[in-house]
Amino acid sequence: MSDETRGAMRVGVIGTGHVGLVTCVTLAEFGHDVVGVDADEEKVARLQEGKVPFFEPGLQQLLDKTLSQGRLTFSTDAASAIADREIVFICVGTPPRASGEANLVAVENVARQVAKDGSSSLIVVEKSTVPTGTADRIRRTIALEMRASVGGIEVVSNPEFLREGTAIEDSLRPSRILVGADSPRGHAAMRRLYARSLEEGTPLIETNIKTAELAKHAANAFLALKISYVNALARVCERTGADVVAVADVMGSDPRIGRAFLDAGLGYGGFCFPKDLDAFEHLAAQAGYDFPLLREIRRINEEAVDAVLVKVREGLWNLEGKRVALFGLAFKPGTDDIRFSPALSLARRLIEEGATVVGYDPEAMAGAKEEIPELELASDGYAAAADAHCVVICTEWAEFRDMDLNVLSEMMAYPMVVDGRNVFGPDEMRSLGFTYYPTGRQAIA
Ligand code: UDX
Repeated sequence: MSDETRGAMRVGVIGTGHVGLVTCVTLAEFGHDVVGVDADEEKVARLQEGKVPFFEPGLQQLLDKTLSQGRLTFSTDAASAIADREIVFICVGTPPRASGEANLVAVENVARQVAKDGSSSLIVVEKSTVPTGTADRIRRTIALEMRASVGGIEVVSNPEFLREGTAIEDSLRPSRILVGADSPRGHAAMRRLYARSLEEGTPLIETNIKTAELAKHAANAFLALKISYVNALARVCERTGADVVAVADVMGSDPRIGRAFLDAGLGYGGFCFPKDLDAFEHLAAQAGYDFPLLREIRRINEEAVDAVLVKVREGLWNLEGKRVALFGLAFKPGTDDIRFSPALSLARRLIEEGATVVGYDPEAMAGAKEEIPELELASDGYAAAADAHCVVICTEWAEFRDMDLNVLSEMMAYPMVVDGRNVFGPDEMRSLGFTYYPTGRQAIA
């Protein structure tokens, strides 16, 4: 056995969405024999041909590599994929129900499939973000299906902490690996699975299943809390004359706080924070604890979009007949994802109020247009700004920082910028003659 295949395991990954596909290529890169399973035949056919279904830096290269090495295959046949595997990852979606509660039907279906087709010593790993207590439900489902105890089938929690746009890097070189298991066998299997990362010095946090499940929600809610905290501070700074960027720098210089996730702006979006926060609130309520702080995080996040809208109104007076250019449509730079993007919330509100909205984003335009057909699209930032009465910076793509602001100013009907991500500096914008509205810093009219 070569060094590379030493300890190689047979792994199945059920669900090839963002988390599932990144898990597939990472584990294959770690030397394991991986099969990715998805019910969507067209998607599986495309993956088999090496076509990635979404934009994620580095994913295409790693897919090409692991496919050509024969370490990764894809299938629609969950039964046979599960049958000969030592470890099966659950990476199916857990979308929100109308109540905010996570819909776990897909997770239950995998549990039933595992009971039917899995080996008696299978390790089942929860990778999807699930409420605490899900592992217990999975165990009970397996036992009910088998009409016996779960026997040697082991359930383990191994939450992902992937950020879109850096998911491959986060997965290949994670800041930590979290494993929740209730038996030494579960922990031992996961140590073998992640042997390469552990040899490279990645910290491993081993705990029980319920703690691991809860830790994922706790971490995401805390990050969202930091963002909402700084956005509420931005509102206070705007009213008092303080500068939120400087305040965040002071706060961040305290190692107990840290500077990360203290950038005020249009607020958070994406498929994780909004959904996980709702699910966490629901989980706490179900457990008998009201957690209004979580509701405040969401409220302040919505207020961040209102605050930008107020600035556009203040700058333009009436919105009817005005042309507003949105720079960035994705929920953050480095992704084409527009799910829960604050830029799209803003676009809808501006259109409702009678403005013509033109958007530009290097990656996310097709998705945005599908969501908001009235949105006009432009081929770059300058084209979007042409004849616009106001530019709103919604997503801090690096290319916006590099634009020639003199050219931008000349192309616009009014030289007005509402900076929803504090990409530019107030002094610079003042000297160029812009009417400039930053976030949590002093406006210059
Ligand atoms: C997040 C978590 O970081 C990750 O650990 C988890 O697994 C999934 O959710 P992601 O949704 O990809 O990852 O985005 P992230 O980079 O964390 O940013 C989330 C949102 O917060 C973005 O909309 C971003 O613009 C916003 N944000 C971030 C701020 O508004 N201010 C900040 O200071 C930081």
